Amino acid sequence: MATRGFPEGFAWGAATASYQIEGSVTADGRGASIWDTFAHTPGKVLNGENGDVAVDHYARYAEDVALMGSLGLNAYRFSLSWPRIQPGGRGVNGAGLDFYKRLVDELLEQGITPYATLYHWDLPQELQDAGGWPERDTAYRFAEYAQVAHEALSDRVKHWMTVNEPWCAAFLGYGSGDHAPGLRSSAQAVRAAHHLLLAHGLAAPLLKANDCLVGAAPNLYAVTPVSDSEADLDAARRIDGLQNRFFLDALLRGSYPEDVVADLEPFGFADVVQPGDLDLIGGKVDFLGINYYSRHTVSADPDAAGMVATSPFASASPWPGAESVAFVNAGRPVTDMGWEVDPGGLHEILTRVAKEYPSVPLYITENGAAYVDTVADGGVDDQERLDYIEAHLAACHDAIADGVPLKGYFAWSFLDNFEWGWGYGKRFGLVYVDYETQVRIPKSSAHWYGRVARHNGLS
Ligand code: BGC
Repeated sequence: MATRGFPEGFAWGAATASYQIEGSVTADGRGASIWDTFAHTPGKVLNGENGDVAVDHYARYAEDVALMGSLGLNAYRFSLSWPRIQPGGRGVNGAGLDFYKRLVDELLEQGITPYATLYHWDLPQELQDAGGWPERDTAYRFAEYAQVAHEALSDRVKHWMTVNEPWCAAFLGYGSGDHAPGLRSSAQAVRAAHHLLLAHGLAAPLLKANDCLVGAAPNLYAVTPVSDSEADLDAARRIDGLQNRFFLDALLRGSYPEDVVADLEPFGFADVVQPGDLDLIGGKVDFLGINYYSRHTVSADPDAAGMVATSPFASASPWPGAESVAFVNAGRPVTDMGWEVDPGGLHEILTRVAKEYPSVPLYITENGAAYVDTVADGGVDDQERLDYIEAHLAACHDAIADGVPLKGYFAWSFLDNFEWGWGYGKRFGLVYVDYETQVRIPKSSAHWYGRVARHNGLS
Protein backbone atom coordinates (compact mmCIF):
# COMPACT_ATOMS: atom_id res chain seq x y z
CA MET A 1 0.00 0.00 0.00
CA ALA A 2 1.31 3.45 -0.86
CA THR A 3 2.36 5.57 2.06
CA ARG A 4 1.29 9.17 2.28
CA GLY A 5 4.32 10.58 4.02
CA PHE A 6 4.34 13.82 6.01
CA PRO A 7 7.22 16.34 6.10
CA GLU A 8 10.18 15.50 8.28
CA GLY A 9 9.78 16.82 11.82
CA PHE A 10 5.96 16.84 11.62
CA ALA A 11 4.46 17.11 15.12
CA TRP A 12 2.17 14.18 15.89
CA GLY A 13 0.33 14.94 19.06
CA ALA A 14 -2.84 14.94 21.07
CA ALA A 15 -4.39 17.79 23.03
CA THR A 16 -6.10 18.26 26.39
CA ALA A 17 -7.15 21.16 28.63
CA SER A 18 -6.58 21.64 32.35
CA TYR A 19 -10.16 21.82 33.66
CA GLN A 20 -11.23 18.91 31.47
CA ILE A 21 -8.66 16.44 32.82
CA GLU A 22 -6.82 17.53 35.96
CA GLY A 23 -9.26 17.27 38.87
CA SER A 24 -7.59 18.05 42.26
CA VAL A 25 -9.29 21.42 42.22
CA THR A 26 -8.12 22.47 45.68
CA ALA A 27 -4.69 20.79 45.66
CA ASP A 28 -1.51 22.76 46.35
CA GLY A 29 -3.23 26.10 46.68
CA ARG A 30 -5.25 26.12 43.44
CA GLY A 31 -7.91 28.82 43.45
CA ALA A 32 -11.38 28.58 41.95
CA SER A 33 -12.02 29.22 38.27
CA ILE A 34 -15.20 30.27 36.53
CA TRP A 35 -15.69 26.67 35.44
CA ASP A 36 -15.68 25.45 39.06
CA THR A 37 -18.40 27.97 39.85
CA PHE A 38 -20.40 27.31 36.69
CA ALA A 39 -20.27 23.51 36.92
CA HIS A 40 -21.43 23.69 40.54
CA THR A 41 -24.40 25.81 39.56
CA PRO A 42 -27.48 23.58 39.07
CA GLY A 43 -28.74 23.35 35.51
CA LYS A 44 -25.52 24.33 33.76
CA VAL A 45 -23.91 20.93 33.11
CA LEU A 46 -25.72 17.74 32.15
CA ASN A 47 -26.36 15.51 35.17
CA GLY A 48 -24.82 18.11 37.48
CA GLU A 49 -21.33 16.87 36.61
CA ASN A 50 -18.15 18.89 37.23
CA GLY A 51 -14.36 18.76 36.95
CA ASP A 52 -13.63 18.16 40.65
CA VAL A 53 -12.10 14.77 39.88
CA ALA A 54 -12.21 14.71 36.08
CA VAL A 55 -9.73 12.03 34.95
CA ASP A 56 -7.41 12.66 37.89
CA HIS A 57 -4.58 13.70 35.59
CA TYR A 58 -3.07 15.91 38.33
CA ALA A 59 -2.17 12.73 40.19
CA ARG A 60 -1.75 10.45 37.18
CA TYR A 61 0.22 12.69 34.81
CA ALA A 62 3.30 10.44 34.82
CA GLU A 63 1.25 7.39 33.85
CA ASP A 64 -0.51 9.43 31.14
CA VAL A 65 2.73 10.75 29.67
CA ALA A 66 4.26 7.27 29.71
CA LEU A 67 1.24 6.03 27.75
CA MET A 68 1.66 8.82 25.19
CA GLY A 69 5.30 7.84 24.81
CA SER A 70 4.55 4.15 24.44
CA LEU A 71 1.97 4.88 21.74
CA GLY A 72 4.53 6.87 19.75
CA LEU A 73 3.35 10.48 19.98
CA ASN A 74 6.10 13.11 19.67
CA ALA A 75 4.11 16.19 20.78
CA TYR A 76 1.54 17.06 23.44
CA ARG A 77 -0.67 20.13 23.70
CA PHE A 78 -1.94 20.86 27.19
CA SER A 79 -3.21 23.96 28.96
CA LEU A 80 -2.00 25.58 32.14
CA SER A 81 -4.59 26.26 34.81
CA TRP A 82 -4.43 29.99 35.52
CA PRO A 83 -5.89 29.61 39.07
CA ARG A 84 -3.25 26.97 39.91
CA ILE A 85 -0.47 29.38 38.98
CA GLN A 86 -2.17 32.57 40.20
CA PRO A 87 -4.94 31.71 42.66
CA GLY A 88 -7.18 34.75 42.64
CA GLY A 89 -5.58 35.95 39.41
CA ARG A 90 -2.49 37.56 40.98
CA GLY A 91 0.86 36.65 42.50
CA VAL A 92 2.68 33.35 42.02
CA ASN A 93 1.81 29.94 43.46
CA GLY A 94 5.06 27.97 43.28
CA ALA A 95 3.34 24.66 44.08
CA GLY A 96 1.02 25.12 41.10
CA LEU A 97 3.92 25.90 38.79
CA ASP A 98 5.76 22.86 40.10
CA PHE A 99 3.06 20.59 38.71
CA TYR A 100 3.69 21.88 35.20
CA LYS A 101 7.46 21.61 35.70
CA ARG A 102 7.04 17.96 36.64
CA LEU A 103 4.72 17.38 33.68
CA VAL A 104 7.14 19.01 31.23
CA ASP A 105 10.12 17.08 32.64
CA GLU A 106 8.20 13.87 32.15
CA LEU A 107 7.32 14.82 28.55
CA LEU A 108 10.88 15.71 27.65
CA GLU A 109 12.11 12.48 29.16
CA GLN A 110 9.74 10.62 26.81
CA GLY A 111 10.94 12.64 23.81
CA ILE A 112 7.59 14.46 23.57
CA THR A 113 7.65 18.17 22.68
CA PRO A 114 5.40 20.27 24.95
CA TYR A 115 3.00 22.82 23.43
CA ALA A 116 1.48 24.92 26.21
CA THR A 117 -1.78 26.87 26.01
CA LEU A 118 -2.21 29.61 28.60
CA TYR A 119 -5.98 30.07 28.45
CA HIS A 120 -8.35 27.21 27.85
CA TRP A 121 -11.28 28.88 29.60
CA ASP A 122 -10.50 28.57 33.33
CA LEU A 123 -10.44 32.24 34.34
CA PRO A 124 -9.75 32.78 38.07
CA GLN A 125 -13.14 33.43 39.68
CA GLU A 126 -11.87 36.63 41.37
CA LEU A 127 -11.12 38.13 37.95
CA GLN A 128 -14.66 37.32 36.87
CA ASP A 129 -15.94 38.94 40.07
CA ALA A 130 -14.07 42.05 38.93
CA GLY A 131 -15.87 41.89 35.57
CA GLY A 132 -14.04 39.15 33.65
CA TRP A 133 -13.21 39.40 29.94
CA PRO A 134 -15.63 42.25 29.23
CA GLU A 135 -13.22 44.33 31.38
CA ARG A 136 -10.08 45.59 29.70
CA ASP A 137 -8.08 45.03 32.87
CA THR A 138 -8.40 41.25 32.49
CA ALA A 139 -6.14 41.44 29.42
CA TYR A 140 -3.44 43.11 31.53
CA ARG A 141 -3.85 40.48 34.26
CA PHE A 142 -3.43 37.82 31.56
CA ALA A 143 -0.16 39.34 30.38
CA GLU A 144 1.17 39.17 33.97
CA TYR A 145 0.11 35.54 34.24
CA ALA A 146 1.76 34.78 30.89
CA GLN A 147 4.99 36.33 32.14
CA VAL A 148 4.93 34.24 35.34
CA ALA A 149 4.31 31.01 33.44
CA HIS A 150 6.92 31.82 30.82
CA GLU A 151 9.59 32.64 33.38
CA ALA A 152 9.06 29.30 35.07
CA LEU A 153 8.83 27.08 32.02
CA SER A 154 10.42 28.72 28.98
CA ASP A 155 13.73 26.95 29.46
CA ARG A 156 11.87 23.78 28.48
CA VAL A 157 8.65 24.85 26.75
CA LYS A 158 9.35 26.58 23.44
CA HIS A 159 5.85 26.59 21.89
CA TRP A 160 3.25 28.79 23.57
CA MET A 161 -0.36 29.46 22.70
CA THR A 162 -2.11 32.39 24.29
CA VAL A 163 -5.87 31.81 23.95
CA ASN A 164 -7.81 28.71 22.94
CA GLU A 165 -10.95 29.31 20.88
CA PRO A 166 -11.59 32.92 21.81
CA TRP A 167 -14.91 32.67 19.90
CA CYS A 168 -16.17 30.13 22.46
CA ALA A 169 -14.75 31.96 25.48
CA ALA A 170 -16.44 35.21 24.39
CA PHE A 171 -19.67 34.21 22.66
CA LEU A 172 -20.57 31.04 24.60
CA GLY A 173 -19.27 32.40 27.91
CA TYR A 174 -20.78 35.90 27.78
CA GLY A 175 -23.28 35.79 24.88
CA SER A 176 -25.38 32.62 24.96
CA GLY A 177 -24.34 31.67 28.50
CA ASP A 178 -23.76 28.04 27.55
CA HIS A 179 -20.24 28.16 28.97
CA ALA A 180 -18.79 29.76 32.09
CA PRO A 181 -19.38 32.34 33.39
CA GLY A 182 -22.84 31.88 31.86
CA LEU A 183 -23.73 35.50 31.11
CA ARG A 184 -26.21 36.39 28.38
CA SER A 185 -25.31 39.71 26.86
CA SER A 186 -24.17 40.31 23.30
CA ALA A 187 -22.68 43.64 24.34
CA GLN A 188 -20.57 41.93 27.00
CA ALA A 189 -19.63 39.15 24.56
CA VAL A 190 -18.20 41.51 21.95
CA ARG A 191 -16.20 43.28 24.67
CA ALA A 192 -14.89 39.89 25.81
CA ALA A 193 -13.90 38.95 22.26
CA HIS A 194 -11.79 42.07 21.83
CA HIS A 195 -10.16 41.76 25.25
CA LEU A 196 -9.24 38.12 24.65
CA LEU A 197 -7.45 39.24 21.50
CA LEU A 198 -5.88 42.16 23.36
CA ALA A 199 -4.67 39.68 25.99
CA HIS A 200 -2.98 37.77 23.19
CA GLY A 201 -1.39 40.96 21.87
CA LEU A 202 -0.09 42.05 25.27
CA ALA A 203 1.29 38.64 26.18
CA ALA A 204 2.80 37.60 22.84
CA PRO A 205 5.94 39.79 22.95
CA LEU A 206 6.70 38.59 26.50
CA LEU A 207 6.30 34.98 25.45
CA LYS A 208 8.82 35.27 22.62
CA ALA A 209 11.75 35.73 25.03
CA ASN A 210 14.10 32.78 25.44
CA ASP A 211 13.73 31.72 21.78
CA CYS A 212 10.08 30.76 22.17
CA LEU A 213 7.43 30.70 19.46
CA VAL A 214 3.97 32.13 20.03
CA GLY A 215 0.63 31.17 18.55
CA ALA A 216 -3.09 31.27 19.25
CA ALA A 217 -5.72 28.59 18.60
CA PRO A 218 -8.99 29.92 17.16
CA ASN A 219 -11.72 27.46 16.15
CA LEU A 220 -12.38 27.84 12.44
CA TYR A 221 -15.24 26.40 10.40
CA ALA A 222 -15.83 26.00 6.71
CA VAL A 223 -19.03 27.96 6.02
CA THR A 224 -21.48 27.41 3.14
CA PRO A 225 -24.80 29.07 2.35
CA VAL A 226 -27.68 26.67 1.57
CA SER A 227 -28.40 28.57 -1.65
CA ASP A 228 -27.07 31.40 -3.76
CA SER A 229 -29.87 33.71 -2.74
CA GLU A 230 -28.71 37.10 -1.58
CA ALA A 231 -30.14 36.45 1.88
CA ASP A 232 -28.34 33.11 2.31
CA LEU A 233 -25.08 34.56 1.00
CA ASP A 234 -25.42 37.31 3.58
CA ALA A 235 -26.09 34.75 6.33
CA ALA A 236 -22.87 32.94 5.35
CA ARG A 237 -20.95 36.22 5.28
CA ARG A 238 -22.07 37.03 8.82
CA ILE A 239 -21.21 33.62 10.26
CA ASP A 240 -17.89 33.39 8.43
CA GLY A 241 -17.18 36.93 9.60
CA LEU A 242 -17.74 36.29 13.28
CA GLN A 243 -16.37 32.75 13.40
CA ASN A 244 -13.33 33.05 11.16
CA ARG A 245 -12.41 36.47 9.73
CA PHE A 246 -12.85 38.43 12.96
CA PHE A 247 -10.09 36.40 14.62
CA LEU A 248 -7.89 35.76 11.57
CA ASP A 249 -7.85 39.40 10.48
CA ALA A 250 -7.09 40.64 13.99
CA LEU A 251 -4.34 38.11 14.69
CA LEU A 252 -2.70 38.10 11.27
CA ARG A 253 -3.48 41.50 9.76
CA GLY A 254 -3.99 43.75 12.74
CA SER A 255 -7.46 44.82 11.62
CA TYR A 256 -11.08 43.82 12.07
CA PRO A 257 -13.16 43.09 8.96
CA GLU A 258 -15.21 46.20 8.17
CA ASP A 259 -18.41 44.28 7.53
CA VAL A 260 -18.19 42.52 10.91
CA VAL A 261 -17.47 45.81 12.68
CA ALA A 262 -20.68 47.11 11.06
CA ASP A 263 -22.64 44.00 12.14
CA LEU A 264 -21.41 44.52 15.71
CA GLU A 265 -22.10 48.26 15.78
CA PRO A 266 -25.46 47.87 17.62
CA PHE A 267 -23.60 46.19 20.50
CA GLY A 268 -21.21 49.08 21.08
CA PHE A 269 -18.21 47.35 19.56
CA ALA A 270 -16.64 50.49 18.14
CA ASP A 271 -16.26 51.95 21.64
CA VAL A 272 -14.44 48.88 22.94
CA VAL A 273 -11.44 49.09 20.62
CA GLN A 274 -8.93 51.72 21.72
CA PRO A 275 -6.39 53.38 19.43
CA GLY A 276 -3.31 51.18 19.08
CA ASP A 277 -5.05 47.96 20.18
CA LEU A 278 -4.98 46.38 16.74
CA ASP A 279 -1.29 47.15 16.33
CA LEU A 280 -0.70 45.28 19.57
CA ILE A 281 -2.81 42.32 18.44
CA GLY A 282 -1.76 41.97 14.81
CA GLY A 283 1.23 40.14 13.42
CA LYS A 284 2.49 38.75 16.70
CA VAL A 285 2.10 35.06 15.94
CA ASP A 286 4.98 32.82 14.91
CA PHE A 287 2.49 30.08 14.10
CA LEU A 288 -1.27 29.74 13.95
CA GLY A 289 -3.11 26.88 15.61
CA ILE A 290 -6.38 25.87 13.99
CA ASN A 291 -9.05 23.89 15.82
CA TYR A 292 -11.29 22.29 13.21
CA TYR A 293 -14.30 20.05 13.77
CA SER A 294 -16.96 20.67 11.12
CA ARG A 295 -18.68 22.90 8.60
CA HIS A 296 -21.51 25.36 9.17
CA THR A 297 -24.19 25.23 6.48
CA VAL A 298 -26.32 28.29 6.97
CA SER A 299 -29.64 29.72 5.87
CA ALA A 300 -31.20 33.14 6.29
CA ASP A 301 -34.50 31.46 7.09
CA PRO A 302 -34.81 31.44 10.88
CA ASP A 303 -37.26 28.55 10.64
CA ALA A 304 -34.81 26.28 8.80
CA ALA A 305 -34.23 23.19 10.90
CA GLY A 306 -31.13 22.62 12.97
CA MET A 307 -28.77 24.31 15.35
CA VAL A 308 -25.16 23.73 16.34
CA ALA A 309 -25.40 22.22 19.79
CA THR A 310 -23.08 24.07 22.14
CA SER A 311 -24.67 22.73 25.31
CA PRO A 312 -27.64 20.52 26.13
CA PHE A 313 -29.25 23.64 27.59
CA ALA A 314 -28.52 25.99 24.65
CA SER A 315 -31.22 28.63 24.39
CA ALA A 316 -29.81 32.05 23.51
CA SER A 317 -27.89 32.90 20.34
CA PRO A 318 -24.11 33.20 20.51
CA TRP A 319 -24.08 35.15 17.22
CA PRO A 320 -24.46 38.91 17.69
CA GLY A 321 -25.52 40.44 14.41
CA ALA A 322 -26.52 37.03 13.04
CA GLU A 323 -29.14 35.97 15.58
CA SER A 324 -31.64 34.91 12.97
CA VAL A 325 -29.26 32.80 10.86
CA ALA A 326 -30.22 29.12 10.92
CA PHE A 327 -27.75 26.23 10.90
CA VAL A 328 -28.88 23.53 8.52
CA ASN A 329 -28.11 19.84 8.51
CA ALA A 330 -26.63 19.20 5.06
CA GLY A 331 -27.05 15.44 5.28
CA ARG A 332 -23.51 14.30 6.03
CA PRO A 333 -22.89 11.64 8.68
CA VAL A 334 -22.74 13.12 12.18
CA THR A 335 -20.69 12.39 15.30
CA ASP A 336 -22.16 11.82 18.76
CA MET A 337 -22.19 15.64 19.14
CA GLY A 338 -24.45 15.88 16.09
CA TRP A 339 -21.62 17.63 14.23
CA GLU A 340 -21.33 16.79 10.53
CA VAL A 341 -18.19 15.00 9.41
CA ASP A 342 -16.57 17.03 6.65
CA PRO A 343 -12.85 16.53 6.06
CA GLY A 344 -13.17 18.59 2.87
CA GLY A 345 -13.89 21.55 5.12
CA LEU A 346 -10.50 21.11 6.78
CA HIS A 347 -8.75 21.18 3.41
CA GLU A 348 -10.78 24.26 2.52
CA ILE A 349 -9.82 26.07 5.73
CA LEU A 350 -6.14 25.17 5.47
CA THR A 351 -5.78 26.27 1.85
CA ARG A 352 -7.81 29.42 2.50
CA VAL A 353 -5.74 30.50 5.50
CA ALA A 354 -2.48 29.77 3.67
CA LYS A 355 -3.65 31.81 0.67
CA GLU A 356 -5.33 34.74 2.38
CA TYR A 357 -2.96 35.05 5.35
CA PRO A 358 0.37 33.91 3.89
CA SER A 359 3.65 33.04 5.54
CA VAL A 360 2.45 31.76 8.88
CA PRO A 361 3.28 28.15 9.78
CA LEU A 362 0.09 26.31 10.68
CA TYR A 363 -0.79 23.53 13.10
CA ILE A 364 -4.03 21.67 13.55
CA THR A 365 -4.21 22.15 17.30
CA GLU A 366 -7.50 20.24 17.69
CA ASN A 367 -9.44 17.83 15.51
CA GLY A 368 -11.40 14.81 16.57
CA ALA A 369 -14.78 13.32 17.22
CA ALA A 370 -17.08 12.07 19.96
CA TYR A 371 -18.59 8.64 19.44
CA VAL A 372 -20.21 6.18 21.81
CA ASP A 373 -17.51 3.75 22.94
CA THR A 374 -17.93 0.33 24.46
CA VAL A 375 -15.34 -1.80 26.19
CA ALA A 376 -15.25 -5.38 24.93
CA ASP A 377 -12.59 -7.98 25.73
CA GLY A 378 -10.52 -5.33 27.43
CA GLY A 379 -10.35 -3.09 24.37
CA VAL A 380 -12.37 -0.37 22.62
CA ASP A 381 -12.88 -0.76 18.89
CA ASP A 382 -13.63 2.81 17.79
CA GLN A 383 -13.52 2.42 14.02
CA GLU A 384 -15.63 5.54 13.45
CA ARG A 385 -13.19 7.79 15.31
CA LEU A 386 -10.27 6.15 13.50
CA ASP A 387 -12.00 6.80 10.17
CA TYR A 388 -12.71 10.42 11.17
CA ILE A 389 -9.08 11.09 12.03
CA GLU A 390 -7.76 9.23 8.99
CA ALA A 391 -9.99 11.24 6.64
CA HIS A 392 -8.90 14.51 8.25
CA LEU A 393 -5.24 13.52 8.11
CA ALA A 394 -5.70 12.75 4.41
CA ALA A 395 -7.10 16.27 4.03
CA CYS A 396 -3.99 17.60 5.81
CA HIS A 397 -1.78 15.59 3.48
CA ASP A 398 -3.56 17.02 0.44
CA ALA A 399 -3.22 20.53 1.84
CA ILE A 400 0.52 20.06 2.35
CA ALA A 401 0.79 18.80 -1.25
CA ASP A 402 -1.01 22.02 -2.26
CA GLY A 403 1.70 24.03 -0.54
CA VAL A 404 0.13 24.68 2.88
CA PRO A 405 2.87 25.07 5.55
CA LEU A 406 1.30 22.63 8.01
CA LYS A 407 3.74 21.64 10.76
CA GLY A 408 1.74 19.36 13.01
CA TYR A 409 -1.54 17.76 14.03
CA PHE A 410 -3.01 17.33 17.50
CA ALA A 411 -5.91 14.95 17.93
CA TRP A 412 -8.61 16.08 20.34
CA SER A 413 -8.35 14.51 22.76
CA PHE A 414 -5.70 12.32 24.32
CA LEU A 415 -8.09 11.12 27.03
CA ASP A 416 -11.85 10.98 27.42
CA ASN A 417 -12.67 13.93 29.65
CA PHE A 418 -15.12 16.52 30.98
CA GLU A 419 -16.86 17.82 27.84
CA TRP A 420 -18.02 21.17 29.25
CA GLY A 421 -21.85 21.47 29.30
CA TRP A 422 -22.13 17.79 28.32
CA GLY A 423 -20.24 16.58 31.37
CA TYR A 424 -18.80 13.09 30.93
CA GLY A 425 -21.47 12.08 28.43
CA LYS A 426 -19.39 12.65 25.30
CA ARG A 427 -16.15 10.80 24.70
CA PHE A 428 -13.50 12.36 22.44
CA GLY A 429 -10.43 10.45 23.69
CA LEU A 430 -7.94 8.30 21.84
CA VAL A 431 -7.73 6.69 25.26
CA TYR A 432 -10.85 5.44 27.03
CA VAL A 433 -11.21 6.33 30.70
CA ASP A 434 -13.33 4.29 33.08
CA TYR A 435 -14.61 7.14 35.25
CA GLU A 436 -15.25 4.82 38.24
CA THR A 437 -11.76 3.33 38.42
CA GLN A 438 -9.76 5.85 36.34
CA VAL A 439 -8.34 2.92 34.37
CA ARG A 440 -7.05 4.00 30.94
CA ILE A 441 -7.63 1.79 27.89
CA PRO A 442 -6.08 2.93 24.60
CA LYS A 443 -8.77 2.62 21.92
CA SER A 444 -8.06 1.14 18.46
CA SER A 445 -7.71 4.72 17.20
CA ALA A 446 -4.87 5.33 19.70
CA HIS A 447 -2.89 2.29 18.55
CA TRP A 448 -3.48 3.17 14.91
CA TYR A 449 -2.62 6.88 15.41
CA GLY A 450 0.58 5.89 17.24
CA ARG A 451 1.62 3.82 14.23
CA VAL A 452 0.89 6.75 11.90
CA ALA A 453 3.03 8.97 14.13
CA ARG A 454 5.90 6.50 14.21
CA HIS A 455 5.82 6.05 10.42
CA ASN A 456 5.30 9.77 9.84
CA GLY A 457 2.58 9.00 7.38
CA LEU A 458 -0.64 7.27 6.46
CA SER A 459 -0.48 3.93 4.75
C1 BGC B 1 -12.50 22.80 22.79
C2 BGC B 1 -12.36 21.58 23.65
C3 BGC B 1 -13.60 20.73 23.52
C4 BGC B 1 -13.71 20.27 22.08
C5 BGC B 1 -14.90 19.42 21.78
C6 BGC B 1 -13.14 22.55 21.46
O1 BGC B 1 -14.19 23.44 21.26
O2 BGC B 1 -11.29 23.50 22.70
O3 BGC B 1 -12.10 21.97 24.97
O4 BGC B 1 -13.63 19.66 24.40
O5 BGC B 1 -13.72 21.36 21.21
O6 BGC B 1 -16.08 20.12 22.02
